[in-house]
Amino acid sequence: MSQNEQKMLHKLRQLDLSLPDLMRIHEAFTSELHAEGSSMKMLSSCVHNLPTGKETGVYYALDLGGTNLRALRKELPHGKIDMIKQKIPKYLMSENASGNELFLFIATVLLRLMTKHNEHKAAKNFPVGFTFSFPMRKTALNSAFLIDWTKGFQTPGVVNEDVCGLLNMMLKNLEIPAEIVAVINDTTGTQLAGSLKHENCRVGIILGTGTNAAYYNGHEIINTEWGGFNKALPFTQADIIVDENSPNAGKQLFEKMISGMYLGEITRLWLMKVLGPKLLPNFTEKGSYESRFINVVEDTTANLSQVQNFLTQHGMSNLTFEQRQIFKTINEKVLFRSADLLAMGLFSMWKDMKLPEGMHINVAIDGAVYAKPGYQNRFKETLKKLGVKNVGLEMVDDGSGTGAILAAAAALKKPQVSKL
Ligand code: BGC
Repeated sequence: MSQNEQKMLHKLRQLDLSLPDLMRIHEAFTSELHAEGSSMKMLSSCVHNLPTGKETGVYYALDLGGTNLRALRKELPHGKIDMIKQKIPKYLMSENASGNELFLFIATVLLRLMTKHNEHKAAKNFPVGFTFSFPMRKTALNSAFLIDWTKGFQTPGVVNEDVCGLLNMMLKNLEIPAEIVAVINDTTGTQLAGSLKHENCRVGIILGTGTNAAYYNGHEIINTEWGGFNKALPFTQADIIVDENSPNAGKQLFEKMISGMYLGEITRLWLMKVLGPKLLPNFTEKGSYESRFINVVEDTTANLSQVQNFLTQHGMSNLTFEQRQIFKTINEKVLFRSADLLAMGLFSMWKDMKLPEGMHINVAIDGAVYAKPGYQNRFKETLKKLGVKNVGLEMVDDGSGTGAILAAAAALKKPQVSKL
């Protein structure tokens, strides 16, 4: 290994977080859970009625995430979910689109699914749960005022508006027989979906395009919006560049260090810094290294042949074995830093809940980054190092969509004993 490469590897240590580092961040995180004017918004979800698993009837759901829109239909209690998934056109997220165009797109996808089931001309409105994965101020289950766009969204005319009202107006104008009866965050949806599977599901976490967590405080589910946490975070130069180049500079700093929208670019900036543009000419452009490429960490072959294949596929094949090792290490360090910070977040919430000694709780988690190879092992190892005990981790597939169906069903009935 050349002296220069060794120097660079040394620099990569900036991505390592020791236990004392994590404890320092945890202290700041805990203060923010209670601070006045905190960087975490700690929003009411207005979800008091929780599903019992005994709900019946046909329900629809809409799930607007950071990348895709999904429309779902399910006949409760035991019907199969039918789903249409559509990528959100970049234009609709941009400053050039209008809120009206965005809501028209959402309503149209719902109409497609209703038409498929021949329910688009029904005389009565079908109840719809709407998962809106952004920070929103709520005063009722069916009203939600957008506080700020996050992830890639900048669509004008929606901030400070009631997204439930806007969508219901669009459905009415288009004569679609459907009404949004509940708006929830994806974390809340994940927790609701988890609570049907497991008693004591106290936390819902998303680690996909963005990140966030919700927890049950004994009265209702609180949407922490932990992606906004911004104290004591160990930024590297790559993190600062990623933030500066984002549509919401200075905001969502925790999210930008750990979630899928940013991990690829952080890795790319480190690759450029350590291995350089000469070795990796096809990754010199911003955004050219996608988060899914980080899956190269899975390569356990002795000569890193999978890394070699990946690089060849992307038109770069002249890295030595040592350089391929560095390539893999960079990917691993960025991914593991994310897992360590996620563990710090859950540890902080777990401690803050002050559960009775020995009480077992479950945590529902959804999102493509959490599903990455090696991620869960690292996350669990770090939780253990931090001292987390009696916490079951449950990967909930499509929690946010299923949760919206459950929230809609729960919205239509009188309060019942919950399973939480
Ligand atoms: C949003 C949250 C959401 C999270 C995960 C963040 O950018 O602010 O409301 O839960 O992404 O989708």
